[in-house]
Amino acid sequence: MKLGSLLLAATAFAAAQNLPDVLKQGEAVFSKSCATGYCHGARGTNGGAPRLAGRGFDQAFIANTVQQGIPSTAMPAFGATLSRADLTAVVAYVASLNGVTNPVITVSGAPPGPSIARLTGDAARGRNLFSDSVRSFGRCSTCHEIGGIGIPVATPIGKVPADTAALKALSTPQVSTVTLGGESMPALIVSKKANTVVFYDLTSAPPVLRTESPSSVQTGEGSTWRHSSVIGSYNEAELSAILSYLRAVVKP
Ligand code: HEC
Repeated sequence: MKLGSLLLAATAFAAAQNLPDVLKQGEAVFSKSCATGYCHGARGTNGGAPRLAGRGFDQAFIANTVQQGIPSTAMPAFGATLSRADLTAVVAYVASLNGVTNPVITVSGAPPGPSIARLTGDAARGRNLFSDSVRSFGRCSTCHEIGGIGIPVATPIGKVPADTAALKALSTPQVSTVTLGGESMPALIVSKKANTVVFYDLTSAPPVLRTESPSSVQTGEGSTWRHSSVIGSYNEAELSAILSYLRAVVKP
């Protein structure tokens, strides 16, 4: 199914529906297709497959994953098996479980910003590679958000590396080490308050947002985590195209 036709159909569908109805339909589709014992559990919280609620997933990411599945995992592509209306509804429902209060009722997710839409050549190729669904969680948009696409695990990219060598050697000063129950993990601290510490656990991709009590965690400066370990799905030419994209859209 082409994304364009899906978007058209979804828009027409959205016009005839209101959000509460769509979410109700989405919940019904979810219970039937996604919440079975082995998979994501009721309301996406406690099945055998990864938890879906409260993960900070954005809607574009959810739409991509639901439609195309995740290669080499038990997550199937639903793009061809669910009706357009069901697909739209279930994406909006999972988005609502992730705190998206006003999900767009189209399957294509957030529209790209104007400067992103105008790109050509290498920069356009880089834009597609940045959120390339074929790479599953190995893609840049697993941790970086640009123009509404991707998950903002890391703070917005402010400085574009001069070349691919610099990108591969990137230092990550904000990544620290969190120790919890005797286990250490690389972490990006989101906030530290009197009764909660919120951080991304970078042990695996996608990083997992965790909330713990300050008394149970120790945080230490620095980490052995290396950014180069998460960009290995791209070859030299692909990284170079991605840098062209970043140069075109990142405002220092
Ligand atoms: C698994 C998560 C993850 C993935 C995937 C990932 N990054 Fe990052 N990236 C980070 C984190 C975390 C930081 C911030 C570290 C810090 O500031 O200490 C970062 C920082 C950066 C920075 C530096 C930003 C600045 O302003 O200094 C750039 C540039 C960057 N990443 C580009 C990329 C590109 C390009 C890709 C894909 C080829 C990619 N990243 C994939 C997690 C990721």
